[in-house]
Amino acid sequence: MENNLDQIHQNGLAEIEATENSNDIQDLAVRYLGRKGILTQYLRNISKLPAEQRPAAGKKANEIKTILDKAFKRAAEKFASAGSAKDDGIDVSLPGRAAPAGYLHPITQINNQMCDIFSSLGFDIAEGPEVESDYYNFEALNFPKDHPARDMQDTFFVSEDVVLRTHTSPLQIRIMEKHPPPVRIVCPGKVYRCDSDLTHTPMFHQVEGLLVDENISFGDLKGVLTTFVHQMFDEQTSLRFRPSFFPFTEPSAEVDILCVMCRGKGCRVCSHTGWIEILGSGMVHPALYENVGYDADRYTGFAFGMGVERIAMLKYGIDDIRKFFDNDMRFLEQF
Ligand code: PHE
Repeated sequence: MENNLDQIHQNGLAEIEATENSNDIQDLAVRYLGRKGILTQYLRNISKLPAEQRPAAGKKANEIKTILDKAFKRAAEKFASAGSAKDDGIDVSLPGRAAPAGYLHPITQINNQMCDIFSSLGFDIAEGPEVESDYYNFEALNFPKDHPARDMQDTFFVSEDVVLRTHTSPLQIRIMEKHPPPVRIVCPGKVYRCDSDLTHTPMFHQVEGLLVDENISFGDLKGVLTTFVHQMFDEQTSLRFRPSFFPFTEPSAEVDILCVMCRGKGCRVCSHTGWIEILGSGMVHPALYENVGYDADRYTGFAFGMGVERIAMLKYGIDDIRKFFDNDMRFLEQF
């Protein structure tokens, strides 16, 4: 049994020497000093020795226990402080690395807010293609063949008869072709125009609105848009309707709101007029009803289209539209 103890001593030290990481050390310590460990068993069996051998064996076994214990601790410290290359290096006590959470782009946020307001007024939401035929983008919307809006300066042509839609108004035709009246719908989406400066980007977003039913008047248009502006900005933001022209509405109006920066006093943003244009609108032109097969004597309706970036710029006080698309996180993180 004496020999046995020396062997445990030597094997123990040799095995500690051969360990490669802190996990090995822990396992080994259990194997020698754990409850069922080699040395623990030995100590337990000392009671079976003849009485005169017990004190010496007990003393020696305890000495070896202390030696191995120290060797285990030293080895464990060595691995911990060296961060040994062979160590798996997992420290479960370190705080975790937080993955940065994504969030919605400011234009998407404003777009959603706009759609929510119209949803609350009973409008459904629909979308349509960004690559559009000449027919839906122009022809069916009553644009004369030589209308300047078809000019190369504004329109990105894919081919002679196919364009990137220059507005969301083609949805008016697509919706009315599919659904008999009444219709009450808003259509958000990207539109494209060959234009680029402080307030224009070649791609931007619009929200189109269309409501057709019996007995719809300009007063309904005014009511819906007034409610929208009051909810999007506040009750103090008054509107004014300016006569205008679009081939697909008659009469047509552009809508200005009281400048949200200076409240009508006049400033750089409103070019010192006190008013800012936010959208185009009007009563649906009877020619469109003919194109989609609606009874033009029975139904009337209104349509409007507005730029999402324009609303976002006013809401957030931003003077350069291009900031929305630079993907600079320092800008985007503010919203
Ligand atoms: N489509 C027009 C534009 O982009 C806006 C508009 C929509 C005007 C609906 C009247 C009715 O300028």
